[in-house]
Amino acid sequence: MKRTKINEVLKSEAFGSEVNIKGWVRTKRASKNVAFVAMNDGSCLNNCQIVVDLENFNNDLVSKITTGASLSVTGELVQSQGAGQNVEVNAKDIELYGVADPDEYPLQPKKHSLEFLREKAHLRFRTNTFGAITRVRHAMIFATHKFFNDKGYYNIHTPIITGADAEGAGEMFRVSTLDPKNPPLTEDGEIDYKQDFFGKQTNLTVSGQLEGELAALALSQIYTFGPTFRAENSNTTRHLAEFWMIEPEVAFHDIHDNMDLAEEHLKYSVQYALDNCMEDLQFLSKRLQDEEKSKPQNERSMELIEKLRFVVENDFVRLTYTEAIEILRNSKPNKKKKFQFIIEGFGADLQSEHERYLVEKHFKKPVILTDYPKEIKAFYMKQNDDGKTVRAMDVLFPQIGEIVGGSQREENFDALYSRIKELDIPEEELWWFLETRKFGTVPHSGYGLGFERLMLFVTGMGNIRDVIPFPRTPQNAEF
Ligand code: 4AD
Ligand code: MG
Repeated sequence: MKRTKINEVLKSEAFGSEVNIKGWVRTKRASKNVAFVAMNDGSCLNNCQIVVDLENFNNDLVSKITTGASLSVTGELVQSQGAGQNVEVNAKDIELYGVADPDEYPLQPKKHSLEFLREKAHLRFRTNTFGAITRVRHAMIFATHKFFNDKGYYNIHTPIITGADAEGAGEMFRVSTLDPKNPPLTEDGEIDYKQDFFGKQTNLTVSGQLEGELAALALSQIYTFGPTFRAENSNTTRHLAEFWMIEPEVAFHDIHDNMDLAEEHLKYSVQYALDNCMEDLQFLSKRLQDEEKSKPQNERSMELIEKLRFVVENDFVRLTYTEAIEILRNSKPNKKKKFQFIIEGFGADLQSEHERYLVEKHFKKPVILTDYPKEIKAFYMKQNDDGKTVRAMDVLFPQIGEIVGGSQREENFDALYSRIKELDIPEEELWWFLETRKFGTVPHSGYGLGFERLMLFVTGMGNIRDVIPFPRTPQNAEF
């Protein structure tokens, strides 16, 4: 008999008909004559209740139906008498695929901490929380492609192995096949990368932007959506060593067009979640409320769905870095030295505490900051006439801080070239990038949206390790 997925079964009204479902046991309750088995197959949050008349099945089989076991059940679809579900299946035939010894299976039906589940990442997909997150993550991937496809953008695959450091932060993972114990050396005693696999030093990409620009300067509007690697040793709830970034790049867009696109993109993604993932969002909202019960009222976050609607319905506030610095310098936490990093004035790099103050306390709305000091931003950003700032933009979100980083790009060859020289960036690494400014250069802009930061926002989860299936962080590359 053809299998029906549980999300279909739960919507069905074909009472009296026979169905087959396959999945994993979440719970079993048994009384003298009957057992109730809750089964889940990942197609939706809810379980399907199976009613097992103990007279019709042998004891040995029934005793093996425990939490975590996998089954195929064929039976009659009936209207449920019990609360909490509309339908249930009266089992006629049960096939046991695999047992899960209750003495060993770690996911017993009780509350497990997120930390515990991180150590069980191979099984945590089987919990309600990670089922919901995984479905929302898929929806957000799909929404991303739909958003850009509907606008006529082309998706570009940029290389994962590169020779350039796009962000100039030096936080790269090396890629090499040289013998680490006995690498070939040059006459000067340096490692001879000419003998390495690619004949040069290579690393995992920190951004697809530079190659994305090449494509945008022919196809006008492109986006990348790829894995991104940063060897920054920041053990925070918002940093991963391996994450996914969405990077649109658009010819003829200035910084204002760029901000419009980022705002529209974020709102579209959030609206998509509201339209397509409501059941999972309601579950995640309740999870968050339970988690925050112990916090004092004024430290609790806005209810998840209300917060998502709020972002969709309100314009983001736009202001310059310089204006933001003034607000922060005069703010209470700065004056009372409550910030870990005190803001003295222009030039300060904003920390997440400052970003969150602006968003959560001062404006109470998402914020886009522009025109940062050139010293704290990457070499490729368009320089303003003041000689001090560049046309950068960061989008700041509640609970997260920076969710998007982008800029208008320096399209003037001389200005870009002299910035590269100023920063001592080896020209031979970027000759191809520079050539686009020699041949048919145009104003253009783009940004990077950290996909897991978006996931944090949409799911209300507090730790980035819980919104990617297999997190990579310092000292942790299990699974
Ligand atoms: O601000 P970033 O470093 O910008 C770039 O890489 C540009 N090349 C983007 C562009 O203009 N095309 O990174 C962009 C975003 C950040 O705003 C943040 O959301 C995310 O990527 N991000 C991280 N997410 C998780 N873990 C990390 N270690 C991250 N570093 C950046
Ligand atoms: Mg940034």
